[in-house]
Amino acid sequence: MPPLPRPPPGHRAGPGGHPGPRAPEDALKIRILGTAAGGGLPQWNCGCEGCSTARRTGAARSQDCLAVSADGVAWYLVNASPDLRSQLLAAPELAPAAGTRDTPLRGVLLTSGELDHTLGLLTLREAAGLSVHATEPVRAALHGVFPVGPLLAPYTEARWQSVAPGTAFDLAGGLRAEPLALGGKRPRYAADLPGKAWDGRADWVTGYRFTAAGSRSSAVYAPGLAAWTPELDRAVAGAAVVILDGTFATDDELAERTGGSRSSRGMGHLAVRDSLAHLGRHPGPRYLYTHLNNTNPLAHPGSPGAAALAPALAAAGAAVAEDGQLVEF
Ligand code: MLT
Ligand code: MN
Ligand code: ZN
Repeated sequence: MPPLPRPPPGHRAGPGGHPGPRAPEDALKIRILGTAAGGGLPQWNCGCEGCSTARRTGAARSQDCLAVSADGVAWYLVNASPDLRSQLLAAPELAPAAGTRDTPLRGVLLTSGELDHTLGLLTLREAAGLSVHATEPVRAALHGVFPVGPLLAPYTEARWQSVAPGTAFDLAGGLRAEPLALGGKRPRYAADLPGKAWDGRADWVTGYRFTAAGSRSSAVYAPGLAAWTPELDRAVAGAAVVILDGTFATDDELAERTGGSRSSRGMGHLAVRDSLAHLGRHPGPRYLYTHLNNTNPLAHPGSPGAAALAPALAAAGAAVAEDGQLVEF
């Protein structure tokens, strides 16, 4: 159905629906919507110990994405997971104002073209309109081999914007985003994407550094981190919150669990054990690990593996992010 009219620009829902006063200094708000790697926890076709425990106890995790806002009025998704519909319904800030068919969601920023970060874009087809921000290779993949762009076009006005590492851009509500190049790992569906131009690009995977206008504090989100880079050192220095890749606890976790040979690093994910050393060089920020694979003991509270890592996490000021967690500063 066609959307109802959008509230006027600058509309800020206050008590009784009246525009409220603007805060003198806006601060960042992050609603962590999902914290699992592709497949989620439990994974639908997996009966491993962790997935079985999650089924029994209800300790589930939906797939990684979050929403960020600088003013609490205009919100942006960072990644759009396959679990997006239920994640949006669970986030009170993202509900439509009464009598409208519009929400505070203004757009989506992508950190990769991976299916667990992009399938939810199709869920947004009822939107009145939205901006979609992605690096050139990701944008090309989403208009070619995985044609989300062309598929969305008849449903909603998706305004695609190219972003480049190191070039910050401004979004609604005083939010500023700076993409960080984090690696050249392509989604499996794009491994054979024709054209030399896509080889060796370091912006297939990005993170973002967010700041709010009028505030000096920043947040970093890097759910796919192949290696710790000098760029990340710079972004993390001075950040209040860093939400980072916690896919695997150790580099050989998947190989140990599955008997295969794939290392965490080889899959584009620096293991928690290996990133903890870097956190030690940057004390200060609150670190939250996200994008946890269902093999990761940190996704299973009370497991021996989680207990073994707990002291090192605590020493680094790190914790595991939780679905639905609100981070405000
Ligand atoms: C990843 O983060 O490595 C990918 O999303 C893996 C996948 O789910 O296929
Ligand atoms: Mn993933
Ligand atoms: Zn499992």
